[in-house]
This record gives sequence, C-alpha cells and structure tokens, in this order.
Amino acid sequence: MTEHLIEAPTKFSQSLLWKLQRDAYCQFGIDAWNQYGVPSYITSNSFIAKNYAQVVLGYLRDCLSKESIDLTHPIYIVDLGAGTGRLAYLFLKELHASIASSSLPKLNLCYVMTDIASSNIEFWQQNPQLKPYFEQGLLDCAYFHHAQTDPIHLINRKETLSQETLVNPMVLICNYFFDTIPQELFRFRNGQLEEGEISLYTKVEGAIDPAIINQLQCRYSYKSIPQTDSYYDCADLNELLASYSTIAAETPFLFPIGAFQVLKAFKEWSQSSFLLIAADQGVCTPEQIQELPEPKLSLHGSFSFSVNYHSLAAWFQQQNGVGCLTSFPDRAFVVMAGVLGAQDVPETALAFRTHLDSFEPMDYFKLISLLQDEWRKPSLDFMLLLIKLGNWDSNVMNDFFERMRKTLPGATENQKRLLCATIDKVWENFYPTEPAAGSFVLNLGVLLFEMDFFSEARSYFKRSMDITGVNTTAIENIAACNHKLRN
Ligand SMILES: C[S@@+](CC[C@H](N)C(=O)[O-])C[C@H]1O[C@@H](n2cnc3c(N)ncnc32)[C@H](O)[C@@H]1O
Repeated sequence: MTEHLIEAPTKFSQSLLWKLQRDAYCQFGIDAWNQYGVPSYITSNSFIAKNYAQVVLGYLRDCLSKESIDLTHPIYIVDLGAGTGRLAYLFLKELHASIASSSLPKLNLCYVMTDIASSNIEFWQQNPQLKPYFEQGLLDCAYFHHAQTDPIHLINRKETLSQETLVNPMVLICNYFFDTIPQELFRFRNGQLEEGEISLYTKVEGAIDPAIINQLQCRYSYKSIPQTDSYYDCADLNELLASYSTIAAETPFLFPIGAFQVLKAFKEWSQSSFLLIAADQGVCTPEQIQELPEPKLSLHGSFSFSVNYHSLAAWFQQQNGVGCLTSFPDRAFVVMAGVLGAQDVPETALAFRTHLDSFEPMDYFKLISLLQDEWRKPSLDFMLLLIKLGNWDSNVMNDFFERMRKTLPGATENQKRLLCATIDKVWENFYPTEPAAGSFVLNLGVLLFEMDFFSEARSYFKRSMDITGVNTTAIENIAACNHKLRN
C-alpha cells in the first residue's frame, strides 16, 4: 500500500505530532474518553485516588513539621491535564475524609484542575459531583498549556498562581500527562550526541487533522550535534543529558523536555517548593532505558509515548530534592513522587513506600485484569473483598455484575447485607461522564431488587435516570418495586 509522507524528518519535539495531539484533545473534549478510547481507568480509579491522597497528607505533615505552611494562605494541589475530572473527585473525597479524622490543623486547601481543552473545563464546571467542591472553594479550575510561562489564572477565585502570589508549598499531580506532551529523542554514537528526527506517514491521503492520528506511522533518523555539553541554555538539563552518554550508550532514548518545562515553571512559581506525583507508561532504570527500542507511538484516538522517569527522578535529586521511584517498576505504568525544596521528608517517603510502592497502582490493575481472565467463577465473598480492596471500585463492581447476580440465590442474609452496604459505597465513588453510564446504576438496582431490598432498589432505579434521562426500563423497574412494596 502507498505511504503518504506528511512530515519530512523534523526534530522530534517540534514535530507536527504535538499540534495534532493538542488539536485532538481540544476537538474531542470529554469524548476523548467516552468515544475515542483514550485510557484513564488506571490513573483515575478509587484505589489510586486513595493512595495519592495519603502521599499528599504525608507531604503536608512534613511541611507542617518544618513550619513551611502559612495556615492563613491556600495550599494549591494542581492537577495538570485533569481530563475527565474523575481523579479530582475521588481524590478530594479521600483527602477531606482523611483530614477530618486526623490530628492535622485546619488547612486552606484548594485543588485546581487544569487543561488546554476549554470544553473539559466547562464539563467540570457543570458536573453535579464536583459542584459542592467548587461551591465550598475547595476546587477551582484553570487553563494551562504545558509550555506556559504566564501565571495560571484561577477561573472561580479570579486569582493568579505566580511567584508573587504563592506563599505555601504546592502539590502537582500529573497523570498520563508527561506522556502526552513534547519529548526529545537522542542517541549517543561513540560519545557523540545525535538528535532524533521523526518522519510521519499515513496510509490514506486526506486532511492533516486529528482524524489521521490513528493511521500514523513514523520513522526515525538522527543528526549529529557538535556541541554536546551546551545543547540547552541551562546547565541542569545539559548535565542530565550528558549522563546518558554512559547510561544509554548507543541506545536511542527519550528526554521529557515538556515535563522539564512544566517542572521549571512550577519551580519558579512555587519558589522551589513542591511535591510532584506523576504516573505514565515509562522507564525508571538504566536497564529499562536500554531495553526500550526506538519510541513506539501508542495510538488511542490521541497518542502517547513512554516517559523517561529515570531522568525526572534524577532531576529532583540534582536540584537537592528527592526523587522516589518504586522498587519493581513495570514499564507499562510507573509512578513517582518528587520533592523540591527539601531532602528531609520522612512522612512523604513513608507514605510513598506504604501507599504507592508496596502495592503499586499497576499491581492493582494487574490483579483485577488477571482475575477477570483467569478466574471465571469467583465467590461472592471474594468479589466483595476485591471491591473493598479497590476502595469501592465501581469498575470492578461493573465487571462482576453478571457473576454476582448468579451467586445471589445462594447468598446468606449476612452476605446480602454486606452487598447492600458495598453498593452504597460504590455509588459514592461512581463518577459518570456520559448518559450510557447510567446502566451501571440500573444494574445496582437489579442486584438490590433480587435480594428483596425493594425500597433501596427503587432509589437506584431513580438515580439511574438522573444519569440516563427518562428510561423505560428504569420506570418499569420502579413500578415493580412499588408493586412489591405495596404487597
Ligand atoms: C492523556 S490525558 C490524561 C487525562 C487525565 N490526567 C487522566 O489520567 O486520565 C491528557 C490530558 O492533558 C491535556 N493536554 C493535552 N496536551 C496538553 C498540553 N500540551 N498542555 C496541557 N494539557 C494538555 C488533555 O486535554 C488531557 O486532558
């Protein structure tokens, strides 16, 4: 089949790819996740939200013990490329519940969701589950482009986040963000730096717009760079880049320049005082860097590339901060915490070890994926425990719906009561982004109905219509509940 060249060799970080990416997210809005298949489960489930909240609490404890927080000023937790807003919702629930039952003083916390897609920002502002947080001033939103150097403007508070206005340390959350924004490609040949270039092709001829992303094919070539030690106009990145002449000798490697632009901007705004929690497909060790062939474009309506987390952790250390990576990173999904402005952060380090390293978000994802493939007939007790382990994960509940239904005829009264309570907890952590998601709530009603909890079932059938709109099945099910309750 003929290939159509759409971009001749171009420096990787300046490729047309990144414009297509931006255009795709701005054009798709929330449909990026509802229709175009951009993944978000692993970064935005109730399990990861609970664990991130604990790491942030660890960091706040460290800051309080160093007296680096002024309680009269806000502490901003900024979520870059916040996407559906599901992580924000689940994280806020966890964080505030944990603070309420802790000995921490009253903190003036504000979570800020940011994006380049204005329709995502509108979606969050209209979302009924986020609304109470917006109203209480615990949540705000803002436009943010990764290369932005102008201060961030908070839409609701009408304030800016800048060096002049920020008093307290900050928290940055970057999930599936660094793998979305520009990177650079390099290779060292006989100690000589070479800059990677990309050529783009498609199989079908047509307009150059986001619709072609799923057809893209790429090839790489390299250009020799004479001045290896002054590639960037800053010493920190030159030093990091040079370190790869031994770490990745003769192997192509990615350098997350977009991520470094973001970190440097926040370094300036926060006066070098922030916690980063980030997760992506990525490489953490020299071995993983050497194993990775040339960058592979992951296509999913938009695209993503693996991120060199090894270099991100090294940057934090180089800046006299802390870079925490996990003990058994899996390239498919890695998570890190980085602290700038302090090296002595025992509570952050402990929380990272306990909540992100000992059983990683990727481990949780593997566990439930393996279970679905390998174990077709789990018991009701097992399914209930797994849902609880995932902090009342609605996706797991959804996957087990049919199996649970089959176990109900043999369920004891105790198991039924536990399932009823589990349904309520799962409902609290359910964050629908499209009307079709209402069928899950209808299914919760079906389970309750089949356990003879008719009044509770009726509530869920009604709730399902809040999401789907008026729906004949739900109406018939409500009538069936009313009939049972009358008799
Ligand atoms: C892969 S999604 C991740 C969304 C969410 N964090 C998650 O884990 O599901 C990338 C997000 O970054 C936003 N984005 C894409 N390019 C960006 C850029 N250059 N600067 C800022 N945000 C960008 C997108 O609109 C989208 O919300």
